[in-house]
Amino acid sequence: MAHTEVQDYLNKLVATEGLFYIRLHQFHWYVKGSHFFVLHEKFEELYDRTTEELDEVAERLLAIGGEPYATLEEFKEHSVLEERVEDKKLSEGEMVEALVKDYETIRTFVGEGIKLTDEKEDVVSNDLLIEMKGNIDKTLWMLKAYLGDSATR
Ligand SMILES: [Fe+2]
Repeated sequence: MAHTEVQDYLNKLVATEGLFYIRLHQFHWYVKGSHFFVLHEKFEELYDRTTEELDEVAERLLAIGGEPYATLEEFKEHSVLEERVEDKKLSEGEMVEALVKDYETIRTFVGEGIKLTDEKEDVVSNDLLIEMKGNIDKTLWMLKAYLGDSATR
């Protein structure tokens, strides 16, 4: 059954995804350079997926009796990622590099959640997190492939 530790974990993930959603918009809006069209669209695809995951995690949390954070202040306070206003001035390559770092941070955090939900025998949350990890692995592979082939690096 539901466990406070799992609820707390999922809520931290809600905050992280909520902050990351806004951060991806920042990059979507401010990206400049010869790869604008590709990156502008890719960042949109990434924030679309992030908001779907945010919603799934929050609703899973509700289903197990938790109360998801639902304000920007709460997201900022509890996220494992940081908000950086100056990042709107990054070059297009630096934005992708920053996202690789963010996704690696999220992947580590999701990995911790996979272990925790396994220990607590919350198979539904476990399944949700495993699917998220698969998506993150794929995104990281693509972002790193992009950097390997980018003239901006
Ligand atoms: Fe847009």
